[in-house]
Amino acid sequence: MVWYDKNAMESIYSGYENKLRQIAISVTEKIRDYGNAFTEETGEKLYEHLSWRIKSEESMRKKCVSDGIPETAHSALKEIHDAIGIRIVCLFIDDIRRNVEKIRQLQGSRVVQEKDYIHVANPNGYRSYHLILQVEDSGPDIDGNTPGTYFVEVQLRTIAMDTWAALEHEMKYKKDIRHPELISAELKRCADELAACDVSMQTIRDLIRG
Ligand code: GTP
Ligand code: MG
Repeated sequence: MVWYDKNAMESIYSGYENKLRQIAISVTEKIRDYGNAFTEETGEKLYEHLSWRIKSEESMRKKCVSDGIPETAHSALKEIHDAIGIRIVCLFIDDIRRNVEKIRQLQGSRVVQEKDYIHVANPNGYRSYHLILQVEDSGPDIDGNTPGTYFVEVQLRTIAMDTWAALEHEMKYKKDIRHPELISAELKRCADELAACDVSMQTIRDLIRG
């Protein structure tokens, strides 16, 4: 075991923390802009809420270790793609697809990876649509490239999917639980029931619209 003084240790983001925040805010603003434009045009919301976060120092270091890569700024900024995370929580399943279309068209970034855990849910029941964006920034990045590039993970979910993920996240770190198989099976059942509700809600909306 290696002991270290947390306060004395240099941040894994090594001077790029503000840049990461800046990028997170700028992409979030672009999403807010297309959302507001859509609402003005149609009177409907494209999403229910929007949030961003920078992965904590501790989580980033843990991820480097579990991925078997060195705990360096290069790993954090270039090898791992979710230092910046943005979450878009939608009312209805169809809205996820509409947001993905808008995000594909954003200026200054391109989609480099897509994972559809809605079409095929994770075996544990987790559902979400994940995009990795590569975002350009005028200044040099850690590799010395100008313009620099930064990765952003965008997670798109319905409110039901988000609720499930929050509860499951809370429980998965509980150690020494009794009956882990039963708990996993129950969580999976809840995920599937919520997914069925999402489909029903979508159908109700379509019926109301005629
Ligand atoms: P990791 O980030 O190491 O998981 O890399 P990956 O390439 O497997 O990414 P993936 O797209 O599968 O998942 C990235 C993120 O999605 C995670 O950091 C979580 O925020 C979320 N996520 C994925 N699976 C689950 C899950 O089973 N439960 C919950 N609550 N969140 C999940
Ligand atoms: Mg994963």
